[in-house]
Amino acid sequence: MTALPLDPARLRALFPAFAEPSFAGQAFFENAGGSYTSRAVLDKLTHFYTATKVQPYGVYAASIEAGEAMNLSYERTAAALNVGADWIHFGPSSSANTYVLGNAFAGWLKPGDAIVVTNQDHEANTGNWRRLAKHGIEVREWSVDAQTGRLSLAALDALLDSKVRLIAAPHCSNIAGEINPVAEITARAHAIGAVTAIDGVSYAPHGLPDLAALGADIYFFSAYKAYGPHQGILAIRPSLAAELPNQGHHFNDSRPRYRLTPAGPDHAQIAASSGIVDYLEAVAAIAGTSAPGDNPYRRAHAAMRAQEIALAKPLLDYLRQKNSVRIIGPDDPAERAPTISIALDEPGAVVAKRLASHGIMAAGGHFYAQRLLEATGIDPDHGVLRMSFVHYTTPAEITQLIAALDAELA
Ligand SMILES: Cc1ncc(COP(=O)(O)O)c(C=O)c1O
Repeated sequence: MTALPLDPARLRALFPAFAEPSFAGQAFFENAGGSYTSRAVLDKLTHFYTATKVQPYGVYAASIEAGEAMNLSYERTAAALNVGADWIHFGPSSSANTYVLGNAFAGWLKPGDAIVVTNQDHEANTGNWRRLAKHGIEVREWSVDAQTGRLSLAALDALLDSKVRLIAAPHCSNIAGEINPVAEITARAHAIGAVTAIDGVSYAPHGLPDLAALGADIYFFSAYKAYGPHQGILAIRPSLAAELPNQGHHFNDSRPRYRLTPAGPDHAQIAASSGIVDYLEAVAAIAGTSAPGDNPYRRAHAAMRAQEIALAKPLLDYLRQKNSVRIIGPDDPAERAPTISIALDEPGAVVAKRLASHGIMAAGGHFYAQRLLEATGIDPDHGVLRMSFVHYTTPAEITQLIAALDAELA
């Protein structure tokens, strides 16, 4: 394995879960379902619940501190994503956030407008938009290659014309793992006057992107899969957000933060979310001179990706040479996130259960990407085996997984 830019021991010291005795000997390969939570986030959550669990944004000390802690999360998250704080909205989950967006777009689009959705997405970034057909919106599907599960820009180009107002696509599929070219997708959308809604849930755990560089109009991810609390983080271009009809209480129409997140905010979890950014800064410090540049978030991103690519290589090399295994998505570690799904003769969940006896925490199923499984000829009830890891995974855990697979796969 090539030299790793990040020392796993230093990373893991920042996660209480790695010191938890009940996890000893168990290798975690279900990070795409939800990562471990960083100490920085847990400390902020505990502090909020202990010292400032009062109504925020008031006039007394604890209330002022609570509001300031929440504001800090808007500001720090925005800085890490390279956008203004007025882009950021916190909601209960990404599915809840996109459900609200779907309703908002129902009031913004006009009958006869067209939108493009994929069949590679998790249902959260496709079903919500497809429902707009009921409002007279034409829904065009950008379909994956039936063998590889990959999306091509040529297939997208064939769907675009001046009727298209929205392209919804994943930055990274939670099954195929492919990293899609968001900047190119967005450039195509903007060239025809459309906007993009990019699902970053499966990408963000591998490094927060520079949204100004990607150009996406809407980009969302789930903090609980990115070392944070159970929140959905939605970044939306303020000028677009202002055009969308208010989804909150009527008297909050002039308060941008309240217009697209009708659920009452989870104050503590919003306040704890700035801990994710603290964690990324710690990753950048651990990377030291191995990561280029000055910006800590871009440096953390680069180091996390380099680490994952090095870790994924032996696993993909092993899987590639097994005739009984069909890898969904690209088999080049540089083209994908380490969310690796394989189709087998046996149902994914059956194999996952056997892997558990080898200390491997993984899962099988369709992971709410039913359309992708159907498009690639896999019965969603049969499902795939998904092994997802992140930068804090160790080379020894990869070896443990390969040994377990070797014992259990045909
Ligand atoms: C790619 C992707 N998008 C969206 C979601 C939905 O996220 P949430 O659980 O925050 O609703 C998930 C959850 O697994 C996901 O993997």
